[in-house]
Amino acid sequence: MTAPLIDPFARAITYLRVSVTDRCDFRCVYCMSENMTFLPKKELLTLEELDRMCSTFIDLGVEKLRITGGEPLVRKGIMTFFQAMSRHLERGALKELTLTTNGSQLERFAADLHAAGVRRVNISLDTLDEAKFAEITRWGRLPQVLRGIDAAQKAGLRVKINAVALKGFNEEELPAITEWCAARDMDLTWIEVMPMGDIGNEDRLGQYWSLKDVRAEYERAYTVTDLAERSGGPARYVQLQETGQKIGFITPLTHNFCESCNRVRLTCTGELFMCLGQEDNADLRAPLRDHPDSEEPLRDAIRNAIAHKPKGHDFDYSRQRTDGQMSRHMSHTGG
Ligand code: GTP
Ligand code: 5AD
Ligand code: SF4
Repeated sequence: MTAPLIDPFARAITYLRVSVTDRCDFRCVYCMSENMTFLPKKELLTLEELDRMCSTFIDLGVEKLRITGGEPLVRKGIMTFFQAMSRHLERGALKELTLTTNGSQLERFAADLHAAGVRRVNISLDTLDEAKFAEITRWGRLPQVLRGIDAAQKAGLRVKINAVALKGFNEEELPAITEWCAARDMDLTWIEVMPMGDIGNEDRLGQYWSLKDVRAEYERAYTVTDLAERSGGPARYVQLQETGQKIGFITPLTHNFCESCNRVRLTCTGELFMCLGQEDNADLRAPLRDHPDSEEPLRDAIRNAIAHKPKGHDFDYSRQRTDGQMSRHMSHTGG
């Protein structure tokens, strides 16, 4: 039995987020600039390399694998990769295989994802208004995503909606989005907007809507009970007594959750980022490519990287500045 991955702050690393592409069919304004330059294909890990990489992490104790992007479902051949990963579910080494998606391709892929062992998907949706949806994604089409959500539910996937809380954008939609999710038996998680990437548009501070205020909105309209349960991710949950649904809060700014961090992020080029909000990273592509017949160099590189995982991120809006602004785009590390 291999020793599990434990970082310098005694946190066990059991959750790997894997970005399989930097591309996306949308350009959400808080995530990407309008004119992104995407990586040439040869820079990307191949599907076989992704398989080797993830399998090695699973051997080292990773139990939860979340596939991200960019938009993971625009990566060519990605279903082959999901199917390959299902062997780790079947043998019990992997407890959860899941993804975070913008929903645009789900109509096509939902059934195949379920067949590969995916049981839950997180879908990003910040508004239910078609014109506002086109504005926030720059050109995304809401009906396509809504069809994707329907297809996911029909295929038996449990859906959680992720909404980035944006002042002056979806503030007034909070009750509508909440009721819409409740009517479809979907949980909803709100995320505080993080200062990442040169997005070349409006100011972040103006958009920042603290989840303390979001919670207060809920408390005005509903009976809110804190839940102790966690999903293995960063969200804290409450339950609304009136609808029975769970509402998650991901609060990197107002309530730092780094002390319970269990995750690291692999980019589509094989860099391992130890924290979403720090630049510390390690190249895993070289030990993988240079040693096609041995996993030991890759294992050593992973262990060495985890031994340097920082304590937490430095995002901060508290001084009315976007301190901790990262030049890296969210799409690079997959959120
Ligand atoms: P569950 O398994 O449903 O708990 O999912 P999750 O919250 O782990 O994954 P999801 O992709 O839905 O995460 C939603 C968003 O939360 C991400 O896109 C990030 O914006 C943010 N997030 C996730 N993990 C971290 C983290 O470690 N640090 C920070 N600052 N933000 C994170
Ligand atoms: N701050 C917070 N969340 C973000 N996401 C993308 N960019 C940001 C940001 N700057 C979210 C998306 C999606 C997930 C992949 O990351 O809305 O739910
Ligand atoms: Fe694409 Fe997701 Fe980024 Fe939006 S948040 S541009 S859907 S990767």
